[in-house]
This record gives sequence, structure tokens and C-alpha cells, in this order.
Amino acid sequence: MTELDSEPVLEVRDLHTHFFLRRGVVKAVDGVSFSLHKGEVLGLVGESGCGKSMTALSVMRLLPKGSARTVQGRVLLHGEDILTRSPREMREIRGSQISMILQDPQTSLNPVFTVGEQLREAIFHRTHGRNKDVMREAIEALRRVDIAAPEQRIGQFPHQMSGGMKQRVVGAIVMSGQPGVLIADEPTTALDVTIQLQYLKLLQRLQRETGMAILFITHDFGVVARMCDRVAVMYAGRIVECGTVEQVFENPSHPYTRALIASVPKMTGPIERLYTIEGQPPSLMDLPVGCRFAPRCPHAEQRCHDIYPPAFAVETGHDAHCWMLEAE
Ligand SMILES: Nc1ncnc2c1ncn2[C@@H]1O[C@H](COP(=O)(O)OP(=O)(O)OP(=O)(O)O)[C@@H](O)[C@H]1O
Ligand SMILES: [Mg+2]
Repeated sequence: MTELDSEPVLEVRDLHTHFFLRRGVVKAVDGVSFSLHKGEVLGLVGESGCGKSMTALSVMRLLPKGSARTVQGRVLLHGEDILTRSPREMREIRGSQISMILQDPQTSLNPVFTVGEQLREAIFHRTHGRNKDVMREAIEALRRVDIAAPEQRIGQFPHQMSGGMKQRVVGAIVMSGQPGVLIADEPTTALDVTIQLQYLKLLQRLQRETGMAILFITHDFGVVARMCDRVAVMYAGRIVECGTVEQVFENPSHPYTRALIASVPKMTGPIERLYTIEGQPPSLMDLPVGCRFAPRCPHAEQRCHDIYPPAFAVETGHDAHCWMLEAE
């Protein structure tokens, strides 16, 4: 269920997050804008290193300490800019209004506490300690993510569980906070293939049951087709195309999106040579002034190298930053 007419629950406006290093400034996120609506799953796709995780961590305000800083932009959660909140307020917001599932469950779970202790903490936090039946709710939370024999599992430590099980526990902890917005950053890449599919199905079910909005980060267009309502394609620190999954799959309008879709292995038909994109993404320390994809683009003209293309509407709700779309 998507309510595109409703106010977005999360709105990111012109976000810039840079790494300030001795050898220069890495523009990991360089003007990202998107909105996420109630009950919607928005995919964020793009090659490795294009800035997907940094976008997510900027929104959560969990950037690696030291050199990374959000230097510009707004992150509106229910209309309020959370970039201006104090670290303490942010801790309150995280876990209750907006949560994140990382690629590696190991980094989300604390190795020195049992699964039950970590779940109880999340439930206690949400209910401000007023829930007397925390233990029962914790067991229920594990059951909800399909963990067998939750009464026994609840007393175990993370290292006593498999990768897939740990990721389910992370899911249970996140869901215990009942966040309206979830950011899932490649939540299945650390899992093996059969477990991946189970986990995607689980996330989908939880999304439908709770109506939460999800920003789903992946480099896999197959996963986008399966999980998402809309998709935003990112290249070298910026979003280059955005639309419903149907619009973008049927009418990919940025040459980079086309190349990405063409490189997805087909499940049916004869085995073809996979399309690969020639060349490398630009260095985020030395970005071209024009379109960032121009050096790799088969259609690039002079102005593509000279001027960054604005967003052109392909149709309602679908736009792309490519000069080829400019109306004559
Ligand atoms: N600790 C760091 N110091 C300096 N630069 C960094 C650091 N972490 C990330 N970067 C830079 O930020 C860019 C974006 O990184 P990010 O992790 O957001 O990519 P990503 O799109 O999530 O890639 P992947 O698909 O591999 O997870 C990278 O290209 C890298 O150059
Ligand atoms: Mg990443």
C-alpha cells in the first residue's frame, strides 16, 4: 500500500556528506534528495561505493567518527529536521521512530548479552519500563520472525546462532521498537542464497503487517523488483533516476540505469553474455563538473561533460537527470 498523496514520513533534501581527509575531500553523498511515504518500500540501488550506506548513515546520524560530516541538507522525519536534534534526542528517535538493519548482523548485536537481554532492552525502551510482561513479549518477538523454540533461544548469545538466525534476531529487535521508518542496508548480502530469500519474505511480511516505510538499499535489481514500490538509482554520490519500479523497469531513462538493468542476469532463456558497463565511476575526490556518468556514457555529447543535467520528467512520478530527456 502506497500513499503517495500523503505527506512523506521521511524526506531527504539536498544532502551532502563528505569525508575530510588529508589528501582531499571525498564527496560520498553530494546532493541526494528523495522522499519516503507511509507504507512504501523505496529501493536505493547503485554500484559499490556510490554512497548508499553513507546516505543511510547520514539519515541515522551514525556516521563513522572522525573525518565524516554532513555539511549540507535536511532530513525531515515527519516534517521535522532531525539534523538539528541533539545527540540525546537522536538516541530517542533511533530505535523508536527510525531504525536500521545493517548488512552484517554481527555489528548490530552485542556479543556479551543474550538475545533475550537485547530484546528486553528494546521493549523496555519503547514502553518506558511500563510493560510487566517483557519476557513474554520478547519470546513473541522471536516467534514472529520465525525462530523455532524461542523459549530456548532467548537465553543464548549471538555466537550460538547462525548468520540467518542472527539477522532474524536483529529484525525482532528492530520490530520491537515499532519504528515507522526502517532503513535496511543490504540486509541479506551476508546470508547464503536460500536464507536470503527467506529473510526477504520475512521483511516483506513484517512490512505488510506493520505498514512501516522501508528504505531498502541494495545493488541487486532483482531484489528491487521483488521488494520495492519505487526505486532511486544512485551514481557517484547522487540520485540519477527515480520512479515506480514499473516505470523504471519498463522505461529506464538514464543510460546508467539501462546499463544496470541490462547487467542483471536473466533467469529464463539462453545464457547470454552479461552486459558490463565499460570504465570506472569517477573518483569522489575529483568529480567531473558535468554529468558524472558522461565519461562512460555511449550517448555523451559536449554539454554532458560541461553542465550537470537537471531532473527531467519522464512521466508523472518518474524523472531522470539526463540531457537526452530535454524536450526540443
Ligand atoms: N571511512 C572512510 N573514509 C574515506 N572515505 C570513505 C570511508 N567510507 C566510505 N568512504 C567513501 O564513501 C564512498 C561511499 O561509500 P558507501 O559506503 O556509502 O558506498 P555504498 O554505495 O554503500 O557501497 P557498497 O555497495 O559497497 O556498500 C566510497 O566510495 C568511499 O570512497
Ligand atoms: Mg554500502
